[in-house]
Amino acid sequence: MHFLSQDLEDYIEQHSEKEPAHLAALNKETYQKILLPRMLSGHFQGRVLSMLSKLIRPKNILEIGTYTGYSALCLCEGMQKDGQLHTIDIKEELVDFQRKHFDKSAWGAQIVQHLGEGVNIIPTIDLKFDLVFIDADKENYLNYFELIVPKMNTGGIILSDNVLWSGKVVEPLQEKDMSTKVLLEYNKRLADDPRVETVLLPIRDGLTVSRVL
Ligand SMILES: C[S@@+](CC[C@H](N)C(=O)[O-])C[C@H]1O[C@@H](n2cnc3c(N)ncnc32)[C@H](O)[C@@H]1O
Repeated sequence: MHFLSQDLEDYIEQHSEKEPAHLAALNKETYQKILLPRMLSGHFQGRVLSMLSKLIRPKNILEIGTYTGYSALCLCEGMQKDGQLHTIDIKEELVDFQRKHFDKSAWGAQIVQHLGEGVNIIPTIDLKFDLVFIDADKENYLNYFELIVPKMNTGGIILSDNVLWSGKVVEPLQEKDMSTKVLLEYNKRLADDPRVETVLLPIRDGLTVSRVL
C-alpha cells in the first residue's frame, strides 16, 4: 500500500541521498532472480536505515529477516570499524546470494549470517547490541522484542518494520488475520512499555524507533 501519492514518493526519493551503486545492483538482481522482491527495503527506506545507523554509530547490530541482504548493508554503513552485524533468516536458498553481495561490500568480514528460526537463534548470540532491525514474520514480533530487550545496551535502538501493515492496523480486524492481531498488540506494547521510548514513523509500511532506557 502507498500511504503517499506516487508523485510525492518520487519527489522524496529524488530529494534524498542517491541509492549507492552496490545497492542498486542488489536491488536489480533481487527483482530479476528472487521471489517476492517487494520485501526488500528499497532506496528510500534503505537511506533512512543508513542515516539512522550513521547517527547511532553502533558497534554490534542484529537483524531479523535478512532476505537478500539489502537492509543489512544499509545498516552496516554506520557500524563501527570493529563492529559486527548478525543477521538471521530462515530461507536456506538465500544464503549464497546474501554472501555474494556481502563479500562485494566493504563489510563482508564483519557480517555473520545465521540460518534458522529467529526465536531459536537470538538466544545463541552472546553479544549486547546498539541497533536491532526486526523485519521478519509478524507473528513473532512480540517474542523477538522480549528476547532482544535484555540484549540491548542502554540507549540502544530497536527498529521494527511494517508496523502499519498496509493500513490494516486501523481497519476492522479479520478473525483469522494473526499478523494484524499481533501487530496491534505489538504497537500497543511498544507505546506503553516503560523499558523503551517509542516513536512510530509513517515511513513506507511503518517503521517504529524504540530507544532502550
Ligand atoms: C521482509 S523480508 C526482510 C527484508 C530485508 N530486511 C530487507 O529490507 O531487505 C522478511 C524475511 O524474514 C524471513 N523470515 C520469515 N520468518 C522468519 C523466521 N521465523 N525466522 C527468521 N527469518 C524469518 C523471510 O525468509 C524473509 O527473508
